[in-house]
Amino acid sequence: MEALDPHIIHSQLRPEAPRVSYFEVVTSTNEVLKDILRQSFSPHVVLASQQTRGRGRRGRRWLSPKDAGLYLSYGHITHRPVDTLGPLSLVMAISVATVLPDVVHIKWPNDLMVKQDKQWAKVGGCLVEIMTNPGTSTAAILGVGLNLHMAQHLTNQPADTPTQLWADLPLLVDPSTLVAQLVNQLHLDLAVLEQDGFGPFQARWETLHILRNQPVQVTHSPTERFRGTAGDINEYGQLAVTTDDGLVWVSAADVSIRLTHPS
Ligand code: BTN
Repeated sequence: MEALDPHIIHSQLRPEAPRVSYFEVVTSTNEVLKDILRQSFSPHVVLASQQTRGRGRRGRRWLSPKDAGLYLSYGHITHRPVDTLGPLSLVMAISVATVLPDVVHIKWPNDLMVKQDKQWAKVGGCLVEIMTNPGTSTAAILGVGLNLHMAQHLTNQPADTPTQLWADLPLLVDPSTLVAQLVNQLHLDLAVLEQDGFGPFQARWETLHILRNQPVQVTHSPTERFRGTAGDINEYGQLAVTTDDGLVWVSAADVSIRLTHPS
């Protein structure tokens, strides 16, 4: 991959967008961002060419070899109550899909997917963590990983299911431009979410949502799983799943979901 260039990134950032700190190697951009926020509780972005301990959802590792993907964490300060922050991770995925129009779709809650040989394959994902500053505000650490030249490493990537397909993102712009576009888009979208909630995103979500009307299996734990048909999401970002016993609203935390064949 073309090397990331902080000068190109900064030249394309909107003046009001948060600054981007670039590192060649970090443990995890989410962890470095948390350290920065402990010093200064204000919006900030951490970007790296390589992570030695990249983390995925549900305690998985996230393979992050040098220059094989984008590894970025955006620190967003919010004044919304912590129990209303569910849609943050959906909005992050929507922002990514918005800067990659007609290419990236979303598997709820925030898997970034592309169509490859008539099948959906994962090109990236989002890991959102919350950090509170007692009495004042909350920081959301919005981490995103996108595969760019991961093909030779992908066999080692832990997946939600053994049938998970992986792909590299077909990139039409240089990665530094993509980073600037993404930071600008996140800045705009997060301001809308802060002010108006998830409502303004519903229409965009519907064009990107690949699970609607699809048979799915929802897994809370190895012993707790059920099948149903996925529907839409509500203003809290929960997914409607119709089962034989009725409608269930599923929250993103600690759930994995996969497309299945009807049983
Ligand atoms: C997933 O499991 O789908 C989410 C993957 C999130 C990976 C990104 S890479 C940048 C940031 N730093 C991390 O350690 N994880 C996230």
